[in-house]
Amino acid sequence: MKIAFIGLGTMGYPMAGHLQKAGHEVCVYNRSFKKALHWKTEYHGETAETAKGACLDAALVLICVGNDNDLREICYANDGVLAGLKAGAILVDHTTTSANVAVEISLACSKQNNTFLDAPVSGGQVGAQNGMLTIMLGGDEESFATIQTVLDVYAKQMVLMGDVGSGQTCKMVNQLCIAGILQGLSEGLSLAAQSGLDLNQVCDVLKHGAAQSWQLEQRTHTIAKDEFDFGFAIDWMRKDLGICLDRADSLSLNLPMAKHVDEAYEKLQKLGRGRQDTSVLIKAIEL
Ligand SMILES: NC(=O)c1ccc[n+]([C@@H]2O[C@H](COP(=O)([O-])OP(=O)(O)OC[C@H]3O[C@@H](n4cnc5c(N)ncnc54)[C@H](OP(=O)(O)O)[C@@H]3O)[C@@H](O)[C@H]2O)c1
Repeated sequence: MKIAFIGLGTMGYPMAGHLQKAGHEVCVYNRSFKKALHWKTEYHGETAETAKGACLDAALVLICVGNDNDLREICYANDGVLAGLKAGAILVDHTTTSANVAVEISLACSKQNNTFLDAPVSGGQVGAQNGMLTIMLGGDEESFATIQTVLDVYAKQMVLMGDVGSGQTCKMVNQLCIAGILQGLSEGLSLAAQSGLDLNQVCDVLKHGAAQSWQLEQRTHTIAKDEFDFGFAIDWMRKDLGICLDRADSLSLNLPMAKHVDEAYEKLQKLGRGRQDTSVLIKAIEL
């Protein structure tokens, strides 16, 4: 299949690579063109200098950029995605955004005979690199059936949750759960360290019990080494928690834990840690 991939960040770069390695004809676009050239050297696909140029021949266009505004920019620009989509092409967005922007772009797509699915992912940088992401989608069943085998190259689980926007709503649930897990992990590991336990040993035993989690297994060893310059950025998590808190407001739901974690991340951002991995939440315990 001819595929365009827009946005070669931490997540998009390896995801696009899996598609090319699986035998698809992939053309990539990245705002900083250097990354696209680097990707081409590694995977031998094609590059385009505009998003529109990448999309012209593609039956499937995949996007993975930062937030709602980035998605709007890349879709609506004169040389953007919507200007390049050929009739009948399917647009899939892997960015974590609000459900509102997903519905908005879906409407714009339907006006020009294209279909749209929101498809946020979970599994982090390591999941993208190993092709083991969890994908939660919103859209129509026919388009889902068409893209399922294609997305399978970087997924271990993929579920159509309902109409457009449902994927993003499911991702909100995911982010709220992660915030709670990270707060628990931060408090638990702080107590362990202050009590003189070896954090690596703590992880090695707890991962077999009821406290097991992706965050415990993937992050305890890096926390123990004081390593935070990788992974899922606080800046992105605050964007996600903002989306969750907006939805909660609209439902008159109170989410005290999410508010607390969001405030802790705000403090860490002010200390210049915005691009660090969300496991750096443990540093907020000491503030
Ligand atoms: N990292 C994770 O562990 C993880 C896990 C699950 C979900 N996510 C979500 O996946 C999305 C991408 O995350 P990431 O970690 O890959 O982010 P990232 O490393 O910061 O990469 C963002 C990508 O989007 C591009 N971009 C941003 N704004 C743009 C704009 N206005 N126009 C064109 N291109 C733009 C960037 O281009 P440049 O190279 O030019 O800056 C870059 O290629 C986010 O929504 C994030 O919340 C991330």
